[in-house]
Amino acid sequence: METHSSGKTSTPRIVILTGAGISAESGIPTFRASDGLWEQHRIEDVATPEAFSRRPQLVQTFYNERRRKLLSVDIKPNPAHIALGALQRRFPETVTIVTQNIDNLHERGGAFNVLHMHGELLKVRCVRCATVIEWARDVEMGDHCAVCGAGLRPHIVWFGEMPFYMDIITDALRQADLFVSIGTSGNIYPAAGFVAEAKTYGAATLEINLEPSGNRAFFDEGLYGRASEKVPEWVNGFLQN
Ligand code: APR
Repeated sequence: METHSSGKTSTPRIVILTGAGISAESGIPTFRASDGLWEQHRIEDVATPEAFSRRPQLVQTFYNERRRKLLSVDIKPNPAHIALGALQRRFPETVTIVTQNIDNLHERGGAFNVLHMHGELLKVRCVRCATVIEWARDVEMGDHCAVCGAGLRPHIVWFGEMPFYMDIITDALRQADLFVSIGTSGNIYPAAGFVAEAKTYGAATLEINLEPSGNRAFFDEGLYGRASEKVPEWVNGFLQN
């Protein structure tokens, strides 16, 4: 493997960041569109630690509904998830997928070791001992942690909480040759800052989105259109070169 003066190797290290736009065509609404989730619900009612302390049942119901929807037969990975799964299986050592999404559509599209920085809908966590449990049904008020008996919360990073995997993600961004952002509006930090971090450390940067995001100026290139078309196009082009 050839080593460049930058210390980077010729096997491209790719970090892919995805957001709600990649799952929109699978039937999961985005957050900030006119029909988006944050138009229907107030963040401070359902997606903060304070909301969970005040009205736990309301918060559990919100996530129970989303979990049920994710598990319904109509929700399936689309060609964008499947193309990224194929890319990662072709380069398992050098493709890192980081997602802000809490669905499991990347995994169902063939990806593995996906870094769910905002948590996962199909897991819950003990509020006391932090044990994480796979969970594929509603959380009821009587459900408790099997280890310590305390209550359970969605394994979701709420507003005001620290995202998961930040050390691993920061290392990957600093070593990346290419950073690709797919289907995210670039509104929420720290994810919105990943492009600048990767670029500072020498990565080429590409955005794939329905339209240019607020971060467009940081990207060397942009591919605009539906993820289900643009992502397979990009992956196929990449694999042919
Ligand atoms: N193909 C490509 N891009 C799309 C598509 C599509 N079919 N549909 C929508 N998009 C784009 C939109 O144009 C928008 O830029 O996806 C982006 C979705 O943006 P948001 O709704 O803001 O979602 P996201 O960026 O993932 O939000 C980040 O905010 O509320 C928090 O925790 C939540 O993880 C979420 C974070």
